[in-house]
Amino acid sequence: MRSFTGTMRRAAIGAALLALSIGMAGEAGAQSSDERALEPTQDAPDPGIEAKVDRLVGQMTLQEKLEQVTLLPDFKVTEDEVRRGLGSILSVTDPARIRELQRIAVEESRLGIPLLFAFDTIHGFRTVFPIPLGAAASFDPRMNRQDARYGARESAAVGLKQTYAPMVDVSHEPRWGRISEAAGEDPYLNSVMAAARVKGTQGRDYSGRNRLAASPKHFVAYGEPEAGRDYNTTDMSERRLRSFYLPPFKAALDVGADTVMCSFNAINGDPGCGNHYTLTEILKQEWGFDGFVESDWTAVAEMRACPPVNPSDVPECGHGVAEDGPAAAARALNAGVDSEMTSTFIRDFGQQLLADGRISMRRLNDAVRRILRVKFRAGLFEHPYSRFQPAEAEQQMLLPDAVAAAREAAGRSMVLLKNDGNVLPLDPDKKTAVIGPLARNQHDMLGPWWGRGDDNDVVTVYDGINRQSPGATYAQGCQLSNTEVPHDDPEGCRSDAGFAEAVQVARAADQVVLALGETREMSGEANSRSKLDLPGLQEDLLRAIRATGKPVAVVLFSGRPLALEDIVSDAPAMIEAWFPGVQAGPAVADVVFGRVNPGGKLPASFPYRVGQVPVYYNHLPTGRPCNKGIKWNSQHRDIPSCDGLFVFGHGLSYTTFEISNLQLSSATVGRRGSLTASVKVANTGNRTGDEVVQLYINDPVANLSQPVRRLRGFERVTLRPGQSRTVTFTLDRSDWGYWDNRGRFVLEPGRIDVYAGNSSKADLKQSFMVR
Ligand code: BGC
Repeated sequence: MRSFTGTMRRAAIGAALLALSIGMAGEAGAQSSDERALEPTQDAPDPGIEAKVDRLVGQMTLQEKLEQVTLLPDFKVTEDEVRRGLGSILSVTDPARIRELQRIAVEESRLGIPLLFAFDTIHGFRTVFPIPLGAAASFDPRMNRQDARYGARESAAVGLKQTYAPMVDVSHEPRWGRISEAAGEDPYLNSVMAAARVKGTQGRDYSGRNRLAASPKHFVAYGEPEAGRDYNTTDMSERRLRSFYLPPFKAALDVGADTVMCSFNAINGDPGCGNHYTLTEILKQEWGFDGFVESDWTAVAEMRACPPVNPSDVPECGHGVAEDGPAAAARALNAGVDSEMTSTFIRDFGQQLLADGRISMRRLNDAVRRILRVKFRAGLFEHPYSRFQPAEAEQQMLLPDAVAAAREAAGRSMVLLKNDGNVLPLDPDKKTAVIGPLARNQHDMLGPWWGRGDDNDVVTVYDGINRQSPGATYAQGCQLSNTEVPHDDPEGCRSDAGFAEAVQVARAADQVVLALGETREMSGEANSRSKLDLPGLQEDLLRAIRATGKPVAVVLFSGRPLALEDIVSDAPAMIEAWFPGVQAGPAVADVVFGRVNPGGKLPASFPYRVGQVPVYYNHLPTGRPCNKGIKWNSQHRDIPSCDGLFVFGHGLSYTTFEISNLQLSSATVGRRGSLTASVKVANTGNRTGDEVVQLYINDPVANLSQPVRRLRGFERVTLRPGQSRTVTFTLDRSDWGYWDNRGRFVLEPGRIDVYAGNSSKADLKQSFMVR
């Protein structure tokens, strides 16, 4: 059985690779790792499992092997195909149907190999948690782990055994709707959250009956589509690939993820699911990954060229790296895809491709072996079914501990963007008006992946506020659009007809909570926007409410960083609440009335306006560094800063903190040595609150210029008024080394600057020399 404490095979991959497993040592995610945790953690193959896999592969017919590498969605599954030995099924969630299909696989297929049932449990199954971008804003790996654990528990109850999560795509693209699904713009933060989510999903061992196998996705560099348009191409240097996009995958694998999904997009012209370099050379060879790769949905078919005349005759085509279905199948399998999702070209053309020598039996056997290995590790042969009968499975949903965790997670994910004049927290004993298109909304609070969440499970913002401030009033103001397919009005809130009523409701109250933002249809897959401001007339609604003179707290719901330049001066207090999940209302009320003191920080920069995108804190320097005071440098002349309006790591509190006394344990260190950086944080205000202490480094002189700052440690601490703590981070070669364009991890001597503070603008500074 797989165990993280078991013997580790220390693959001799060298220091370069070791460094990729950045900072996964502690659950706190606060520190860079110690030497041991830096080593690749590929488990030794379990001889018992390998023998069973070999035996089974030896018994399989070619047709059974081709079925084993096939992964079908619900609507394509037939019982006959299950009898023939189908490998995996996605998106069936009805426990009775799962049990029956599994029974057929186990009892009626020739070899009785169980099916692997997979689903996108991204931020909860039935108990929906905040979107992952929000969960990342908690800067709290425990929260992310907990979310994944409850998602796995509920999913496993219906008979699922794999989730297509975590999504670990670093992104600098707020236009891209899928930025909502991962941890934002920083590779370190994404790595910490990826590891936490894998641990939450799998536990120590994904054969556990409440556990699922995790599948980090989308391998790789899916987060940087040109123009922010989903599925679009990406072109990047080796060093960028290795510095930004690969680390979170490595972190997920290092804590035991055994399946990976390849991406739709092409990298440098080479599609993610046909890419031998990323799938085989990096993932399988360099990293020693012995699990399986599933393709994304029809990504194999999409490698075909579209027909010149009626492209729509072929529903899935486009990349143009394969002439036809057989060529696409050969390309995918030979590149390293082991399981083909939705399209069935490997299954359909495998025999012909083998006969023609375009694929080898050796490679096909390898793919089958990888899938069977995961099925054995998952314990599916011993326990093919959920431990709950279908009728009982339903009773495992929305249990009180899961709902309480969702509320806590939502509260901890919220970011206090500004709070002029301490408008917040509001007084629950005063009369509160709850206004805005998202104020009494259930649907959107679930965000762009809602698993099996039901709108009716959601407690609205109004209801949450009304419970804590009885007698609260409500007005919608305007209505946003939930249209799936963009048409003339993709945004909604086009009419101000409801503004007068909203103003009246505001006037009659003492204070206003204004719930504005996006609908859930505006982010997530295939939902890119070219504007990042508040959709429709919401900014006008804010101004109208503001004109009443009542204290106004704006609560923003969104699946992405928004461009808030036009409203920032109209909104004295603003909370970014993301899409908080089933406990949206209670969590918003907790924060608005101060039961929970907000402590979240932005996991991605909020631009002034869309023309500034991409804007991210960990950018490279230029020969003309930004200087707003002079002309000849790198800047937008019409934007007052070269940073975002709200920068990475920014977030306020109802109390105040002082961060001081940054100290290094040593002024010099050997290239392969380590040192510690400690910093004091004190609560200088009069409420208990959370601060996220952040540690950044910069290598000011290197052979290739280095990002102006890189996050290398953080810790969220809770302090009572007057209380202080010293937080210590360990730095080592994984921190001061860097990737070059030949895929080598370089350790150079020289000065390293260390910054500590409470955002990416941290200003405490110390330096040390690497010898
Ligand atoms: C998405 C994946 C998802 C898959 C299965 C695809 O369209 O890109 O993230 O896991 O569908 O639902």
